[in-house]
Formats: sequence, C-alpha cells, structure tokens
Amino acid sequence: MQNLDWSNLGFVYRKTNAIIVSRFRDGQWTSPEVCSDFDFHFNAFAGVFHYGNSCFEGLKAFRGADGKVRIFRPDENARRLARSAKRLGMAAPSEDLFIRMCCMCVSENIDFLPPFGYNASMYIRPVLEGSNPDIGINSSKEVVFAVMCVPVGNYSKAGSLSPVRAVISRNYDRAAPNGTGSFKIAANYAVSLYPYNLAHSIGYTELLFLDPATKTKVDEFGSSNFIGIRGNSFVTPLSDSVLPSITNKSLQTIAADMGMSVEKRAVPVEELAEFDEVDACGTAVVITPIRSIDDKPALEAPEVTRTYEIPVGDSCGKVSRRLYETIRGIQNGEIEDSHDWCLVL
Ligand SMILES: Cc1ncc(COP(=O)(O)O)c(C=O)c1O
Repeated sequence: MQNLDWSNLGFVYRKTNAIIVSRFRDGQWTSPEVCSDFDFHFNAFAGVFHYGNSCFEGLKAFRGADGKVRIFRPDENARRLARSAKRLGMAAPSEDLFIRMCCMCVSENIDFLPPFGYNASMYIRPVLEGSNPDIGINSSKEVVFAVMCVPVGNYSKAGSLSPVRAVISRNYDRAAPNGTGSFKIAANYAVSLYPYNLAHSIGYTELLFLDPATKTKVDEFGSSNFIGIRGNSFVTPLSDSVLPSITNKSLQTIAADMGMSVEKRAVPVEELAEFDEVDACGTAVVITPIRSIDDKPALEAPEVTRTYEIPVGDSCGKVSRRLYETIRGIQNGEIEDSHDWCLVL
C-alpha cells in the first residue's frame, strides 16, 4: 500500500504504477499492454492533435467495507464510449475489452486504491485517441485506447457535501443545438475552459449551462448533471445537449426506490426558484449541493440579474444526503447492490 495522505487526496494528477494500452490497427485491437512509461509515442500528425479525434470516460473503483474491490457500472461507461467514438467516426473497444482493461488498470495500481474509510476512491480514466498521421479533416483510422487511473478524494476544495455557488453561463455555450453536447468528447471540454476560468476568477465553483437553442431551460453544469428536489419529486433536465450521466441514471433509480417521483423533463430557468434542493451530480463530484445560482447577462458583466437562493443554504439537504449515502453505500458494499451495478473484482 502506498503511503499517501488518503484523507486529503483532492482531485489532482498523481503518477501511479501503470497504464493499460491497446491499439486499433488493420481492423483489430492489439492485446492490452501494461506500460509503466506514461510518455506516449505519438506521430505529430495524429488526428488527436489537429481535429479533436478524442473521446474519453470517467468511472471509479472503491475498496469496500468488506475489503472487496468494486468498479461502479463499467458496462455503462463502455457503451457511452462506443457512442462517443461512433460520433467521431472512430473504432471503439468492445465492452469486454473495455472492462478487461479497467480491471487490469485497477489490479496493476492496487497499491494506489485508497483504503476503506477515507471517502476516497480510484478514478479510472479511459481515453480513445486518433493516432494515424493525417492532414485532412478525417476520422482517424488508427486509434490508441489507454486506461489510466488516479487515487482521488473530494472533487471540490470545499469538501464532500459542502454547498457551492454556481453562475449561469449566458454568453458562453458548451454545446450547439444539434451538436455534440450529449457525447463525452474532448471538444466539449475545450470550449468550457475559458468560461470556467472566468467563473472561477469571480468566485464561483460551478458553471450552469442553458439549452443552447433558446437559453430558457436548464441543461447541466460543465462537469456534471443538474438535479433538483421539489417536494417528493426528483427533477432532472431532459435535453439533447446534456451528457447522459451514469450517476444521474443511478440516482433516478435510487430516488424511485425511495418512493420519489422521477421527472425527466424541460426545466425552465425560472423554476430554479422553486426547488428545495439543487445538486450537481457525476462520477467525480458524486453529489455536490448548490447553495445559490446567480444569473448574469454575461460572465464579464458586473451586474447580477437575479440570484436563486436554494433554501438549504449552507448545509446539504436531507434528500440529497440520503441519495448520496445510498449511492456511496452501494459503491462501498455497505448497502445491498440490488440492481447489480458493481463489478466485484
Ligand atoms: C459534462 C458532464 N456532465 C455530466 C457528467 C456526469 O456523468 P457521470 O455521472 O457519468 O460521471 C460529467 C462527468 O463525467 C460531465 O463531464
């Protein structure tokens, strides 16, 4: 076991033992290789460098209360990566290869998997990069698939379940109407970097994007989905331009199991005033409560048109906490995995 400060890992890069690599060439995938050298050899003309021939995934492995290692819903990530790759016109690994390489990655780096009890996990990052040399605007025919991992703790510096402030991004979109917002492709993140930097520089942790066609409905945060609790309802936007979050999908099931009604529908911006609790949800952020959302005409503008104060204020709402504890309990093997979500190694 590595001697790391498991309680204070944060969400930062750390070198581990190995990454797992397979290459798609001549119509087939090579056997996965364990590489301790993280400095990849890539042709400078590779499609990933010019035209964003790049998509990726994010999932987690947990060491449970019972000492077992669990990977949360890797089959869902395999399918989402295949969907992203198809959108980019690139080959994707089969579900079997994807899961096998995730398991290899966890095994090779097992001494970096945080012990139980520190609220920490192993973040697994599979990436798919177009690798053959090219100069035209083409989908890459050759692809490198690498699975790497990092031990992580809280995504937010504020700590787990600490409410954060968000701002609506009115003058920067992350997705185009009929664009690629629902795919986990690198390009979507590139376009959100500048507005994120701006939001952080003016004191906001999260950036809330609206539907790019009309700017009247809530879409999602830049790194996570939007969920709102209203009475006994779990509400989340139904939109073509948000990433179909696996955490959100799981929380919807948990909410339904808890007897809540699950509403996947358009969420008008003004409805932000009606929610009892609002959270960002995703693999990295798990559930991050939102305490307020400022609506500004532009991120650069000094004025705030309207502030939506979420009633729970500086604490995490009761329903959000229950959702959080249930999903984390399932991931840690403390709550029965009745939907068979975890792959136990
Ligand atoms: C833009 C965006 N939305 C939502 C999510 C949450 O998705 P998931 O729960 O599958 O991690 C992520 C993170 O992966 C994301 O980057």
